[in-house]
Amino acid sequence: MKTKIYPSVLNCDQMKFAEELAAIKTADGVHLDIMDNHFVPNLTWGLPTAQAVLNATKLPVDAHLMIEDPDRWAPEYAKAGCAIVCFHLEASKAPVRTAEVIRSLGAKPGIALNPATPVSAIKDILGRFDQVTLMSVEPGFGGQGFIPEVLPKIKRLRKLVEEARLDTDIQVDGGVNDKTVAQVVKAGANVIVSGSFVFKRNPVEAIADLRKLAENP
Ligand code: DX5
Ligand code: ZN
Repeated sequence: MKTKIYPSVLNCDQMKFAEELAAIKTADGVHLDIMDNHFVPNLTWGLPTAQAVLNATKLPVDAHLMIEDPDRWAPEYAKAGCAIVCFHLEASKAPVRTAEVIRSLGAKPGIALNPATPVSAIKDILGRFDQVTLMSVEPGFGGQGFIPEVLPKIKRLRKLVEEARLDTDIQVDGGVNDKTVAQVVKAGANVIVSGSFVFKRNPVEAIADLRKLAENP
C-alpha cells in the first residue's frame, strides 16, 4: 500500500504561505490544522484562510478541526471544497450525522482520536468514515515529541479495518519525522502527517525522505 504524505502547514512561514504551498507540491495532500483556543489551547485559522489555501493549491486539502462544536462547523469546510473534513470524536455530539452531512456535501468524513481515546470508541461506526486520524501528540501544537503508546493503537485499528473489509485510511498526526515514520507505517498507518520536520528543512527533500523511509520501513 502506498503511503500518502500530508504536510501540516501549521509551522510553515505564514508570511510566505503561497510559496510554502508551492514547495510541497510533491506531497499527496495539505493538512490544515484549524484550532479554536477552546478544544485546544491554541488558535490558528478559520474558513477564510481555508478558502485562500484551497485557491492556492491543487493538492487535496485535509482540514483537521480541533474545535468545539464540529457538528456546526464541519459542513462549512466541506462546502468550501476541502477534500477531507476530519473532526474530533471527543468534541462531537453527533458524529454519525456530521459524517453524513460532510459526505452529502461532496467531501470525505474523517474522525480524529486523541491519545487517550481508545480505538474501540469508534469500532461500531468505523464504516461511516473514510479516514481515522490517530493523534500521536496531544493536539494543539507542532513540534512535539511522538507518543509511542499510539503504536499499538495503530495496529488495533488496522486489524479492525481489515476485519470489517473496509478501505479506511489510517492517518497518524504528531511528531512524525525521519526517526518515527518507519514504526508508524509498520504498525499499519497509510497516511502520514508531518509538520515541523517538513518545514524546518527543504520540504521537497523532507517529503522524499519520508517517502523512501515509508516504502522500506
Ligand atoms: C497538532 C497538529 C499537527 C501538527 C503536526 O495538534 O494536529 O498536525 O501540526 O506537526 P508536527 O509534525 O510538528 O508534530
Ligand atoms: Zn493536525
